[in-house]
Amino acid sequence: MTDPAPDTDAALTADPAPDADALRERALSTLTTARDRTTLLTSCVEDPDLTAQHSPLMSPLVWDLAHIGNQEEQWLLRAVAGQEAIRPEIDSLYDAFEHPRTERPKLPLLSPAEARTYAADVRGRALDVLESTAFHGTRLTEAGFAFGMIAQHEQQHDETMLITHQLRKGPRALTAPEPEPVPLFAGPAEVLVPGGPFTMGTSDEPWALDNERPAHRREVAPFYIDTVPVTSGAYQAFIEDGGYDDPRWWAPDGWAHIRQHSVTAPLFWHRDGKQWLRRRFGVTEVVPADEPVVHVSWYEADAYARWAGRRLPTEAEWEKAARHDPAGDRPMRYPWGDADPAPEHANLGQRHLRPAPAGSYPAGESPLGVRQLIGDVWEWTASDFLPYPGFRAFPYKEYSEVFFGPEYKVLRGGSFAVAPVACRGTFRNWDYPIRRQIFSGFRTARSGDV
Ligand code: AVJ
Ligand code: FE
Repeated sequence: MTDPAPDTDAALTADPAPDADALRERALSTLTTARDRTTLLTSCVEDPDLTAQHSPLMSPLVWDLAHIGNQEEQWLLRAVAGQEAIRPEIDSLYDAFEHPRTERPKLPLLSPAEARTYAADVRGRALDVLESTAFHGTRLTEAGFAFGMIAQHEQQHDETMLITHQLRKGPRALTAPEPEPVPLFAGPAEVLVPGGPFTMGTSDEPWALDNERPAHRREVAPFYIDTVPVTSGAYQAFIEDGGYDDPRWWAPDGWAHIRQHSVTAPLFWHRDGKQWLRRRFGVTEVVPADEPVVHVSWYEADAYARWAGRRLPTEAEWEKAARHDPAGDRPMRYPWGDADPAPEHANLGQRHLRPAPAGSYPAGESPLGVRQLIGDVWEWTASDFLPYPGFRAFPYKEYSEVFFGPEYKVLRGGSFAVAPVACRGTFRNWDYPIRRQIFSGFRTARSGDV
């Protein structure tokens, strides 16, 4: 045991990053949390389920596993530490741009055993790099960014793998405790967010990704936003009212899409007489009315909102609702303030295998009383995925820049499958408006009186 350094030593040291030990600890614990989850997701089924393609939308689970290791190798071993490639011949197999998901099962991928060994080997070396890295001097390592980026990347693929598990046919492989039941939410249905400028995005959150930067001022007109996400019960009213049969509610492309593909309810739902059932991680159950609706496309969210006489919030409105503190002059990191997410704030990290009932987590509400902005379901916004003014791709164009444009819609807030490290008031996700295998829901808004 070494004695802790006296405080005076810390004050006298010339180290410009006196919190290096804390950063190292944070990097280590977030990488370890991510790997524990990856291990769970890739050990709860047998090898044939790891190498199979469960949906043309998804990679085989074993691809995600080796891709996680390969990204870690590229950034922590090669870019940060200048090491040589361990297995240069596999880079192209795990390059998401070289091989679309549909092709991946036919590639000569590492076997499950090889992929596990490779990812563990990379991790062992990455932890050695972590021991010797200074957290200042280069943009990549500043405040441990590369380590945070890689922990977020692994957690993003863990969410992707959880989606694959949800799409997989067959009996239940994963279990988790149920969320706490809560009384039916009795607060106001919506709140008024005052108009005026606010600061969107961030320039000082150390592990924020390139598309969240830089902080910039946005003018937002007054608007009302739902206090809780739209529930499955409310969504059923839209279905029962013939919502899927009425082109008035649908964006033209969305109408064409649901007609062509016979979409008549959220993904994984089917009707059994008078009630709606759903399949969730291998179990069929009655759709709970008080739970935020999940597995809807942007088109479905947009149509519901129009049917309800409302609209989706823009991305700027969503972020203002989540980060604006009417009593402060600085945007908050989260709706509840600046504290890192804790279990009482939000349903995150695959702690439960479903969204929590609408009205849960009062400790996570915003100063204006908006609940469940973080966690539970990704929330579709009205906005296209576009760069902020002053955006610069970092550290690679293929994370965000190549996706900017009108074909992708932004989702905010994160689902029950998002890890705390990959979730912030500024975090931006995006997908095609037809997609609904993701853990996507929404809340609605309307413009305020001018
Ligand atoms: C931000 C969720 C859209 O999964 O396509 C993972 C995250 N980027 N590896 C995705 C990502 C590179 C990305 N999303
Ligand atoms: Fe990736």
